[in-house]
Amino acid sequence: AGLLPFEHEPYFNYADPQVAQAQREAFAQVREKYVGKTFPMIIGGKAVTSADTHDVLNPADTDEVVWRFSNASAAQRDEAIASAKAAFEDWRFSDPMQRASILKRAATLLQQRRMEFIAVMTLENGKNWAEADGEVAESVDHFEVFARETLKWAAGKPVYPMPDEHVTMTYEPLGVVACINPWNFPSAIPLGMALGAIAAGNTVIWKPASDTPLSSYLMVELLFEAGLPRNVIQFLTSADNDVLGDPLVDHPDVRMIAFTGSKAIGCRIYERAAKVQPGQRWLKRVIAEMGGKDPTIVCADTDLDVAARDIVASTFGYQGQKCSACSRVIAEDSIHDELLSKVVDLTEKLQIGLPEDNAPIGPVIHERAAEGILKYIENGKKTAKLVTGGQRAEVNGKKGGYIQPTIFADVKPTDPLFQEEIFGPVLAFTRARDWQHAIELANDSEYGLTAAFYSRDSHKISEARRLIHVGNLYINRKCTGALSGTHAFGGYGMSGTNAKVGGPDYLFWFMQTKTTAQKY
Ligand code: NAD
Ligand code: ALA
Repeated sequence: AGLLPFEHEPYFNYADPQVAQAQREAFAQVREKYVGKTFPMIIGGKAVTSADTHDVLNPADTDEVVWRFSNASAAQRDEAIASAKAAFEDWRFSDPMQRASILKRAATLLQQRRMEFIAVMTLENGKNWAEADGEVAESVDHFEVFARETLKWAAGKPVYPMPDEHVTMTYEPLGVVACINPWNFPSAIPLGMALGAIAAGNTVIWKPASDTPLSSYLMVELLFEAGLPRNVIQFLTSADNDVLGDPLVDHPDVRMIAFTGSKAIGCRIYERAAKVQPGQRWLKRVIAEMGGKDPTIVCADTDLDVAARDIVASTFGYQGQKCSACSRVIAEDSIHDELLSKVVDLTEKLQIGLPEDNAPIGPVIHERAAEGILKYIENGKKTAKLVTGGQRAEVNGKKGGYIQPTIFADVKPTDPLFQEEIFGPVLAFTRARDWQHAIELANDSEYGLTAAFYSRDSHKISEARRLIHVGNLYINRKCTGALSGTHAFGGYGMSGTNAKVGGPDYLFWFMQTKTTAQKY
C-alpha cells in the first residue's frame, strides 16, 4: 500500500549474559513496582476501583499473590458500555492518520519496555522468558502492522466506474466492540483484537482473562500514553463471568463481540449474540477464534531430526497451552518408530523448572487446568501406550501445576487424546499407512487451526497444500509462532470464524462498507 517498509521485531538473545542479566533486573524491578498492588479498571477515562477484588496468582508458586484486580459490578459494566457508546461519536470521525500515528508511537514505547512486559507476563501466566519475549515482540509487530492497515483501509477500494456518476466505496466503523480474551496470550491477543477495533474507528470494552489482567492493563495505559483518547478503551476486570460474560454479550449497545478462547464459550457467544435484544438496532457481528487439535504430519522422505526438534518445540513450548500447539503426530509407518524415539529422547531432556529462571518447561496456568490434563493422561493410560511422562512433577517444593511432558503412542483416531483439545503438555502419536492416509487422519478433526507437514517431495507438498483443512498450514516448519503481518492467523471448522488477525483482511471484520453514488 505504499507504506513504510516493515520488519518484524527481533527477539532477545538470552544466550548473551548481559541480555540475560538485564532481564533478571527487569524481574527485580517488576517485583518492586507491581507485586502486592491492586490495580483499577478504566471507565470513562478514569481509574475506577471496586471494593470486591480478585487475587492474581503466580502459576509457578500459587501461594504467591502477585497482584489484585477489581471485580466489576453490573452498574460499572453498564457505565463502561455507555461511556464507550458516547466516545464512539467522536472517535468514529477521527483522522486515520491520527490513529496510525498513535499506534506507531505505541510501538516505540513498547520497544523501550519490552523486558518489563516480559517479566509481568511470566509472573502472571508462567511463560518462560523466550515464550514471553515472542509474544511481546508480536505485540510490537501488531502496532506496526495495524498502523499501516489503518491507512490502507482509510483509502477505500476502487469500483468499476460509471460515465455519469462518481461512485466510491468506503469503510466505516461499527460502534462498541467488546473484546473478550483468553489467558494464554495475555498481551498479543487482547491487543490484536482491540487494535482491529480501534484502527477501524470503533471504541472498545477490553476484558482480559481474570488470570492475566496486568499484561492488558499496562498495554492499555501504554496506548493512552501514546495519545489514544482515554475514553476509547474501557478496561473492565472480573473473576465473575456472570457480570462480564453473558450480560456483556447480550447488551443492546454492544455492536460487535471479538472473542478468543475456548470452543464452548465461543459457541455460546455466537448463539447469544444472534438474538436481537429490546432496543438493539443491528445484527451483532461476532468473531470467535477458538481451539485447535493441531497435527504434525511426517512423511518418510523427510529429515527426521528436524521434524523431531520442531515437534518437541511446538508441542511442549509453554507447556502445550497454545491453540496452535502440536498435539497429534501422524507419521508414516516406515519411519514412525524412529521418529517416536527421537521425539522421546529430546522430550526427556527438557528440564522442568521455574519460568522466572527461564526453564524450558514450567507450570500450567492453574490447578483446575492441571487436574483436567491429568484426567486425560489417566484415561490415556487405559486406551493408548504411555511412552514418556504421565505424572505431576515436583519443582523446588513450589505449589503449581507442574506436569511431565507426556507422550502416548498407538493412539486411535477415535480416542479423546486424538480428538479433544487437552491444552497441556500431552502429545498423541498415530501411525499412518502412507502419506495420503496421514493427511486423511490429520483432517479427521472438528478443528482446523494449524498443521505442519514434513516432506521433501514436491508432489506430496502440493497435495498437502490442496487437501489439509486448516487456516494455518506450515510446510517443513513447526506449527506455532505465527508472525503478525506475515502469517495471518485463524482457523477452519470449530477453530472459529477465521478472522485472520495480523492479516490484510482483518480490519474488514470491524467495519461496514458504504457505497456512495453521486450524479454529476
Ligand atoms: P475461555 O473460553 O474459558 O475464556 C475466554 C474468555 O471468555 C475469558 O475472558 C472468560 O472470562 C470469558 N468468558 C467466560 N464465560 C463467558 C461467557 N458466558 N460470555 C462471554 N465471555 C465469557 O478460554 P481460556 O481458557 O481463557 O483460553 C483457552 C482457550 O482459548 C483454548 O481453547 C485455546 O485454544 C483458545 N485460544 C484460541 C486462539 C485462537 O486464535 N484460535 C488463541 C488463543 C487461545
Ligand atoms: N499466534 C500464536 C502462534 O502462532 C497462537 O503460535
